[in-house]
Amino acid sequence: MKIIIRHEESKDFRKVEEVAREAFYNLYFPGCAEHLVIHNLRDNKDYIKELSYILEVDGEIVGSIFYTHAKIIGWDGVETKVISFGPVSIHPKYHRMGLGRKLITHSIEKAKKLGFNAVLTLGYPYHYEPYGFKGGKKYNVAMADGNFYKGLLVLPLYEKALEGVSGYATFTDVFETPQDEIDRFDSLFPPKKKQIQESQRIFEKACVELDN
Ligand SMILES: CC(C)(COP(=O)(O)OP(=O)(O)OC[C@H]1O[C@@H](n2cnc3c(N)ncnc32)[C@H](O)[C@@H]1OP(=O)(O)O)[C@@H](O)C(=O)NCCC(=O)NCCS
Repeated sequence: MKIIIRHEESKDFRKVEEVAREAFYNLYFPGCAEHLVIHNLRDNKDYIKELSYILEVDGEIVGSIFYTHAKIIGWDGVETKVISFGPVSIHPKYHRMGLGRKLITHSIEKAKKLGFNAVLTLGYPYHYEPYGFKGGKKYNVAMADGNFYKGLLVLPLYEKALEGVSGYATFTDVFETPQDEIDRFDSLFPPKKKQIQESQRIFEKACVELDN
């Protein structure tokens, strides 16, 4: 298996979106928005191109990770710039083979080299704890409602990178995708059936789990 991690080129755009759609479809809600998020992200001011990668297996694109600028807004109004990743995905055919790990560690190492301070992401702790991420409470990073959530994961990239920081996380508005825009974009892809499935219920529950 020949694995290559490289930056995306414009000729890859459609394939990358198709693979993300395969990975996310019906997982968190009926259908998915991630292929549209990726599509919109590339032209967004918050996009960090030099940290975003795709992964190929034997010449075929099977995964991607996208980074954006994010902020921790202090309760005193002082802003700390941080970075965030997501969507990250691997085609379901290739799950649990260490490919996601390769993409995530590769990009984190690059982020360290570029001098970024900390990575924030939203998701299941079990996906990100293997890389040292911890729930935001440990670093005093809440969500805008003031609560600490298990699904807000924080990784300082060097010692004391978040020392003295305390506040709430804000992410790029590129994640806000109206349903009609999703539906229009999704209709440009091969038909897929929207379904309600157990993973969505699990996700809904996970989204409100507090980090106490
Ligand atoms: C998240 C995702 C990218 C992981 O990719 P992957 O290639 O399957 O992950 P890896 O094989 O590299 O796993 C690395 C480690 O992460 C953890 N992990 C990954 N998937 C897991 C799962 N379903 N359950 C529990 N732990 C998991 C494990 O610790 C794993 O190490 P191990 O296999 O030695 O136990 C992939 O599952 C995916 O595309 N999911 C759908 C999209 C998604 O949910 N993305 C994340 C939200 S943006």
